[in-house]
Amino acid sequence: MKTRWSVFSVLGGCLLSLALSVSVDAASRKPVAAPHGMVVSVETQATQAGAEILKKGGNAIDAAVAVGFALAVTQPSAGNIGGGGFMVIRMANGNAVAVDYREKAPGKATPTMYLDDKGQAARNPKITTKDSQGKESNPFTNRIHHLAIGVPGTVAGLTLALEKYGTMPIAQVVQPAVDLAEKGFILTDNIANGLNQVSYIFAQIPASKKVMMRADGKPWQAGDRWIQKDLAETLKRIAKEGRDGFYKGKTAELIEIDMMANGGIITREDLANYQAVIREPIRAKYRGHEIISMPPPSSGGITLAMMLNILEGYDLQKLGHNSSKTLHLMTEAMRRAFADRARHLGDPDFVEMPVPSLISKDHAAQYRATIDPYYASRSEKFGPQLTGPVESTETTHFSVVDQWGNAVSNTYTLEGGYGSHIVIEGAGFLTNNEMGDFNSKPGTTLATGQIGTPPNTIQPNKRMLSSMTPTIVTKDDKPYLVVGSPGGRTIINTTLQLILNVIDHKMTMQEAVDAPRLHHQWFPDVLNIENGVAADVVETLKAMGHKVNMTGFSGGPYVQGDGHSVMIDPKTGQRLGAPDPRSADSAASGH
Ligand code: DON
Repeated sequence: MKTRWSVFSVLGGCLLSLALSVSVDAASRKPVAAPHGMVVSVETQATQAGAEILKKGGNAIDAAVAVGFALAVTQPSAGNIGGGGFMVIRMANGNAVAVDYREKAPGKATPTMYLDDKGQAARNPKITTKDSQGKESNPFTNRIHHLAIGVPGTVAGLTLALEKYGTMPIAQVVQPAVDLAEKGFILTDNIANGLNQVSYIFAQIPASKKVMMRADGKPWQAGDRWIQKDLAETLKRIAKEGRDGFYKGKTAELIEIDMMANGGIITREDLANYQAVIREPIRAKYRGHEIISMPPPSSGGITLAMMLNILEGYDLQKLGHNSSKTLHLMTEAMRRAFADRARHLGDPDFVEMPVPSLISKDHAAQYRATIDPYYASRSEKFGPQLTGPVESTETTHFSVVDQWGNAVSNTYTLEGGYGSHIVIEGAGFLTNNEMGDFNSKPGTTLATGQIGTPPNTIQPNKRMLSSMTPTIVTKDDKPYLVVGSPGGRTIINTTLQLILNVIDHKMTMQEAVDAPRLHHQWFPDVLNIENGVAADVVETLKAMGHKVNMTGFSGGPYVQGDGHSVMIDPKTGQRLGAPDPRSADSAASGH
């Protein structure tokens, strides 16, 4: 398989400041190696911004915050200051924390706010969207509407992480983002095409049209310089005032005015009250390694721990990577863990969850006893159908390690690609549509993807359940892997496979990232498999009773995740960065 990807690499402490665009056999790819620090993200300029901070003596948190702000400029589909996410930090001294900056429902939110007067999912009559076949319809109000926007958490999360665990002033780490927005940056094919694909939606929203489209109305071309003046001003307010530059003063005022003019409900009070939270990470043991991952309101860490606990009972290395036996067992672990996920998980500030028992080895052993090694189970066996809201696949993950061994695993999102598609007038940033991650129809559970169970129904100031799974793995009490991915519910399974590929199948970080992936989420009872898994393995899985799908949403091959990862070689201490070739502009940069 030929793969094209671009790499900024640093060799012998000297930054090669050119993007190498390479076409090679995936099998021969090696991670980018550096002796001191490493940044890996979806986009080259943001990666470089983080690497420059490391080179100037910043720690992993300083660099991660710089990457987070830079991606808000250079990766408009998912990088953001108008969304939210999670950051797992492990300091070199062994302390680990999870920074929860997930968006919140506004204070005026209600459980049925997305239903019309007939109790059906309400639509936004002012906007027209097209599905992958070009069929037009009005979007649901929890997808594209000012009502879809959750109170953003990113600026609170990044500034909190920096204050508590970073070493540099906010102005210094925001500056690369300010420069990229103010002076502009050159669009790649990938970014230009992404913007052009949804320009017909931006064109229907005046503030978005102004910022996200070319002034002459023509499609963006690779090589165009994209300047974002309003965004630069918003970033400067953050550089000067930290979180108050976003949650108070002019930015908050601009958000409130835009909401009031367009039927939104986020107020200045919601913004001023928003707080990111430092939580205890989920910890699990897997074959002698410690897994440190995101707790609720992410379902990621718990579901990941459940799957690893189940799989620990099998010799996966002996059964072979992507063999039918291994994939069958992984699928059965996914089926069971995702059933528990839907049944129990939600915002910990609102929902009681049996976390210790869910992630116990006993619970896993009970589940293991229900797995037939030769036949697929039916998902109904683990409870009536309870799927969740459809989670889109646009989010972004980045991984950072510094010279001291501090590590950051960060996944953040606008939810759908470009979120709500709504830019705040005068503030220049895109907003999330994370409210769509709540269960929008309390009490009603449908095969089409609606879930009405209480843990994840809307309440004022509640956080919606997430699948984002930023994870750090340690070996002998030292940081070993920094992993995670976008991809809605597939995130948890992608993260699982990054870990299994290294620990069980002895792959390099790059091989682990490149290898074809699979996904099962209990319901729908379908096993999605990326191309590259051997045809006879796929046939065997079908014969075992799995309903296999190899096709993505748009009719092309099924593609899963985007797992920009780092391994620290336990023997040499080398930082080994592995950008995911599934995205065209991904990059690793170290020093
Ligand atoms: O928080 C979540 O789980 C979703 N909003 C994430 C969406 C996502 O990953 C889209 N991804 N690529």
